[in-house]
Amino acid sequence: MNMASRFRVFFTSCLAAFMVLSCENPTKKTKIGRDTPPGTEQSAEVNLEGIALMYKYKCAICHGENGVSVMKDAPNLVTTEYNMEERVAIIMNGKGTMPPQKDVLDMPTIRGLAVYIDSLK
Ligand code: HEC
Repeated sequence: MNMASRFRVFFTSCLAAFMVLSCENPTKKTKIGRDTPPGTEQSAEVNLEGIALMYKYKCAICHGENGVSVMKDAPNLVTTEYNMEERVAIIMNGKGTMPPQKDVLDMPTIRGLAVYIDSLK
């Protein structure tokens, strides 16, 4: 083998290695993205801190930071008599002027919020 063909072999294997490496990672990423429905990445466990923050962002403008309503029509959540399933349904589907969350939040978060309401009492 002369110098030129040796170089060609070396160059070709480098190119092949580069192609394999540069293709493999994006393929793997796409696969993870396809197998994991959006919003379920952290659904295994929902931490209460995240829920508290979510409540502040999404609910407090009407129901108040501490569950004492700051909006005329919104009921106080500190005194709500709805059970867990009823709360989940209201949060999912909305009620009156309350916006539905089922297309915005994932189920673990919605359930987390329903549970979180108890901690306001
Ligand atoms: C735009 C204001 C608004 C936002 C934002 C809002 N709500 Fe409401 N919510 C209401 C209103 C108004 C009602 C009463 C609906 C009715 O009974 O007609 C209500 C009712 C409820 C109830 C039933 C309470 C009861 O005793 O009647 C729960 C539980 C509740 N909301 C939870 C939440 C959670 C959790 C969030 C955040 C994801 C949220 N709400 C965001 C306005 C809002």
